Amino acid sequence: MDKLVALCKRRGIVFPSSEIYGGLGSTFDYGPLGTELKRNVKEAWWRSTVQERADVVGLDSAILLHPRTWAASGHLASFADPMVDCKGCKQRFRADDAGGPRCPRCGGELTEARSFNLMFKTFMGPVEDTAATVYLRPETAQGIFLDFAEVVDTQRAKLPFGVAQIGKAFRNEITPGNFIFRTREFEQMELEFFVRPDPQEEARWFEHWVNARFEWYVRYGISRERLRLRPHAQSELAHYSRGTTDIEYRYPFGWGELEGVAKRGSFDLDRHSEFSGRDLSYFDEATRQRYRPWVIEPSAGVDRSILAFLLDAYAEDVVEDEKRVVLRLDPRLAPVKVGVFPLLRKAGQPEKAHAVFDLLKRRCMVVFDAAGSIGRRYRRQDEVGTPFGVTIDHETMQDDTVTLRYRDSTKQDRVAIAALPARIDELIGWED
Ligand code: GAP
Repeated sequence: MDKLVALCKRRGIVFPSSEIYGGLGSTFDYGPLGTELKRNVKEAWWRSTVQERADVVGLDSAILLHPRTWAASGHLASFADPMVDCKGCKQRFRADDAGGPRCPRCGGELTEARSFNLMFKTFMGPVEDTAATVYLRPETAQGIFLDFAEVVDTQRAKLPFGVAQIGKAFRNEITPGNFIFRTREFEQMELEFFVRPDPQEEARWFEHWVNARFEWYVRYGISRERLRLRPHAQSELAHYSRGTTDIEYRYPFGWGELEGVAKRGSFDLDRHSEFSGRDLSYFDEATRQRYRPWVIEPSAGVDRSILAFLLDAYAEDVVEDEKRVVLRLDPRLAPVKVGVFPLLRKAGQPEKAHAVFDLLKRRCMVVFDAAGSIGRRYRRQDEVGTPFGVTIDHETMQDDTVTLRYRDSTKQDRVAIAALPARIDELIGWED
């Protein structure tokens, strides 16, 4: 993990935020390469969850929702961790992390456990009083429930159907940590999939989504052996859940949740109907009945997925007697797809390389690098996961062919420039 964190910092993938001011408690910025990676991860999720399906639509709801939302959803009352403070060093711990009656840091006396709500509060408008209090959403899901009737009416949606959303969520975590695994500001990719209120229908779709989501991680490169399913015990279920299975990844610090798939029943639609006075039921034309659907919710973390993809891709090997760091990312997720390198900075090679850069740039992210030895340039791209390298050399100037180099095998081919775009497309494996 330390090596990956160092690589992420060194190459501008992910690094601590606000560093010039000494950092800000577990917030991170995605640099130029991390931003590309993040876009690709979200795009891959959107593709398989929305684009490739006829029964899911997308949504982009507000982060600031009416404060009654959180009373209805149960987050004001139940979204809390028990917390203890050390009377000596003033450090705050989650009660279950403290591990006993004394402070794990200084041995001092601890306070009684108190409930600590994890939602960030702020005020809407110029007056800072209770009536103006709003919350930064701790999950994107609630925006979907609030807009349920809107989506059904405007899209003429018929059960079963889902509404998907990607966006920021905020939790005032007591113990953030493990790099981007647990932070206070993070991104979620959530789907609320509405089904007929029937135990068999619920069981069928729950199984469908647990499998579909597990296979998504495999499809984009995570090894099966580092993934597992873990059903929650009754005692650890969230207040809205009647059954949850986590998809876990074997991080260097142990198995950790990547995604939770929950059976939310009609909890949220019931509560919002009750609190808002709006009837959030669905009219089933087949049975001529009105009811509130049940929900299956696969809820994934963008940042945790990125951490898992990076960890799984990180490798060290030896190339030409030299140690190499390589990120074996799936080409579809790799921040940059092709590095373009003129072998020499003369003899028309840079100009030719720029022409190749322009040719490829239209279809994918490409970098141009003319600095240092060619071996060094290959290594620089290997360690950020660029799957293909194109080198322009003296032969190129004679016959319009280039060397195409593969990150994983380090093998090389000779390819005509005219054939390059189609070849790169094929190698990336874009799904059409
Ligand atoms: N709507 C359901 C929900 O929010 P959750 O299990 O609390 O369920 C879902 O969160 C996913 O969001 C987690 O599996 C994880 O990937 C991500 N997540 C939750 N808290 C996080 C945090 N503090 N930092 C980074 N990711 C987090």
